[in-house]
Amino acid sequence: MCGIIGYIGDKRPEKILIEGLKKLEYRGYDSAGIALFNNEVQIIKSLGKISNLEDKINNTDLIDSNIGIAHTRWATHGEPSEVNAHPHRIGHITLVHNGIIENAKELKEDLQEKGVKFNTNTDTEVIAGLIDYYYKGNTKEAIEKAIKDLKGSYALAIINDEEDKLYAVRCESPLILGIGDNEYFVTSDIGAILPYTNKYVLLGKDEIVTLTKNDYVIEKDDIKVYREVEESTLTLEDTSLNGYDHYMMKEINEEPVLVDNLVKKYINNLDKLPDLSKYKNIHIVGCGSAYYAGMIGKNLFEDDGIKVECDVASEYRYRNIVYDKDTLVILISQSGETADTIAAMRKANGDQVDTLAIVNVESSTIERECTYSVLIEAGKEIAVATTKAFILQVLILSLLSYKINQDDKYIEDIKKLPQQLKVLLDKTGYYKKLADSIYKHEDVFFIGRKIDYAISMEGSLKLKEVSYIHSDSYQAGELKHGTISLVKEGTIVFAIVTDDEIRDKTISNLEEVISRGAKPIYVGNVDVDYEDKIVIPRVHKKLQPILAVPPLQMIAYFVALKRGCDIDKPKNLAKSVTVE
Ligand code: F6R
Repeated sequence: MCGIIGYIGDKRPEKILIEGLKKLEYRGYDSAGIALFNNEVQIIKSLGKISNLEDKINNTDLIDSNIGIAHTRWATHGEPSEVNAHPHRIGHITLVHNGIIENAKELKEDLQEKGVKFNTNTDTEVIAGLIDYYYKGNTKEAIEKAIKDLKGSYALAIINDEEDKLYAVRCESPLILGIGDNEYFVTSDIGAILPYTNKYVLLGKDEIVTLTKNDYVIEKDDIKVYREVEESTLTLEDTSLNGYDHYMMKEINEEPVLVDNLVKKYINNLDKLPDLSKYKNIHIVGCGSAYYAGMIGKNLFEDDGIKVECDVASEYRYRNIVYDKDTLVILISQSGETADTIAAMRKANGDQVDTLAIVNVESSTIERECTYSVLIEAGKEIAVATTKAFILQVLILSLLSYKINQDDKYIEDIKKLPQQLKVLLDKTGYYKKLADSIYKHEDVFFIGRKIDYAISMEGSLKLKEVSYIHSDSYQAGELKHGTISLVKEGTIVFAIVTDDEIRDKTISNLEEVISRGAKPIYVGNVDVDYEDKIVIPRVHKKLQPILAVPPLQMIAYFVALKRGCDIDKPKNLAKSVTVE
């Protein structure tokens, strides 16, 4: 994971780099560092959030420079510590790295035999050592040789202390070149440089970009590469809090408008969506919440009469799958850069199976490499816990399902969704009250059957990841085969009950836990007698999850708030999981 940014131009880089790192903090935040260059290299690092690095920089005499690189880390090799934080320097070479080098150990041993000395256990330092080892007066050539030895993923921003230049190269990990006025940037994400430019160039695999103040050249294997300058439509406003205390709350509240936009775009233009009815088998693959969205999709497409499998990408990629003819593999990913989901996609692509991306980030790896793609158009999602992107993933799956089996009730109901969502989200007082009754608990359970089980998994993940309360979800009927032994007086059990066909069954299971002391919180579309309940509007079955999940997101938010958690950046997590 990790986020990187580099600058070369007329300005002093430190402020640009720090502000940029703050925008990249969602990619990891256990330590951060910066290197400035002007004849000499000055490196400053700190443990923890970017604000710690900022404080340290404010209390340091900085060299007067126009070139700099910076990094925010999510540890892979070596524990989070100041010494392991990037940038890393060996000899003439200082660099920052996003990715993971799988053969770092062998390369390191080899370099050590040749006399290279290392100070850390990081794979990144090995890259610096390797480039420096190959450096005999031509940095680009040294980088070219070094990357041929690397196995794994990398996005690198590199300074050589003998040159007023900045170099960058990528493989698997994202990296773009930002084009400003007499200044250039390299960054993992355009959001980090938006105050200066929205013009960027996508860098292809192993293309090395050499930047000076006034020019840039992209080369691969000594051949110049010409790439179009693109313009991002993302605005600074997309990346600001807009008056909210947290991005998570801001993003949940964007759901009604974003749903409205997508509905308007597709409901009378279904031909813009792929036709899934031609496939006999659908495999849906994703990680975390994207997988749970996929589980909702599985229930929808099965009701349409299609054979569906849904799996987490980290398992799917290693399974021995004999693909039937007429199989479609749907890859769901907000970022479009999740390493396991990319691997699952490449497995299917390699077997000549059609692939469909449901992604948020345009031009991301998954969007680019799938046979078909549909963008969920959620705008920038910054909170690590996904909210609006999940809802829009489900909406796209629902529209794809509707395209297979159309009926008038769906059209009627989908148009009401934005307003219904708005009303549901406005009930913050009630969600806070429920949060008050939950936040001291150490275990919370969620139950549901079929599509309601998929919803319950998402509710449970949201709660645990932002509030650190242990929470699990179970198929309601499975509870009595073991887990029910954990239920005691006062145990909170959320029951998700939106599917009429299995309503009575789930309610019976809820009664079973109530009679063993559980305190129920009912989330359903029929009013019931329980004290704590969230009654959502009854809509077409294919749309029901879109109304059931947002209240669970809200409750997770308020529980985390009560517990004083770092809501937008939960510990140990990162937004974009670009390592296996
Ligand atoms: C949970 C969450 C994660 C992501 C997962 C996949 O709130 O955000 O579980 O859903 O890491 O990420 P993407 O969708 O970027 O592939």
